[in-house]
Amino acid sequence: MDASATTPFSTLIRTASHEQHTEAENSSFMSDMLGGRLGVAAYRRYTEQLWFVYRALESASQALSADPVAGPFIRPELARTAHLERDLAHLGGSGWRAELRPLPSTAAYAARIEECTRAWPAGYVAHHYTRYLGDLSGGQIIRGTAEKTWGFERKGDGVRFYVFDGIGNPAAFKREYRELLDALPVDELEKQRVVEECRRAFALNTAVFGELGQEFPLSA
Ligand code: HEM
Repeated sequence: MDASATTPFSTLIRTASHEQHTEAENSSFMSDMLGGRLGVAAYRRYTEQLWFVYRALESASQALSADPVAGPFIRPELARTAHLERDLAHLGGSGWRAELRPLPSTAAYAARIEECTRAWPAGYVAHHYTRYLGDLSGGQIIRGTAEKTWGFERKGDGVRFYVFDGIGNPAAFKREYRELLDALPVDELEKQRVVEECRRAFALNTAVFGELGQEFPLSA
């Protein structure tokens, strides 16, 4: 029997994206941001990109909530759009929305999420996993750095995106999330496609970091 038939899907998807996870983590933008070497303008620009991504993930969540494949993943305590909007109002003032522009890579990322949302619920799960499980994990490291580097109040305006008030026990939540992945009601071939979509989701994230890195080179 080949390994994919016996390995839990949650392990498969994590292992398959491991290399790209390292690549995203080590992108110059992320490492400069986590190293405290970038100004708050870079953090604001990054947060703006996240708004487009989460709007794409969350604007159709009600329609998807009854879907047998994507529906079980949709949980109100994960929703980030309202938190991002509060952070952006803090970072950019009340006019933040008028100035909001997606980078080309962000627009492409959001468009792909929207495509999956409309036509391929299992593909949507790949995007859901890539963002929300990441936010519950590495996102907490980014929050700590942002608070320290730019002086945001702990878990306050500016970093609310990273605060999951409705999730008392993130480790237990992630465990349950992995159980949902393991029970995904699709066949093996479809699981392979979901893994591929997860790789694509990581690549889309890395492309956004690449453009942000060009906009905020350390030498500037
Ligand atoms: C510098 C930035 C990042 C750091 C420091 C970081 C760190 C981490 C850590 C510590 C974990 C926990 C691993 C575990 O529970 O075993 C994790 C998991 C994860 N991260 Fe990241 N991460 C970063 C960026 C990203 C990015 C950009 C993405 C994708 C958009 C991402 C997606 C994920 C996912 C999906 C998981 C869950 C893996 C699983 O258990 O299935 N991370 N990350």
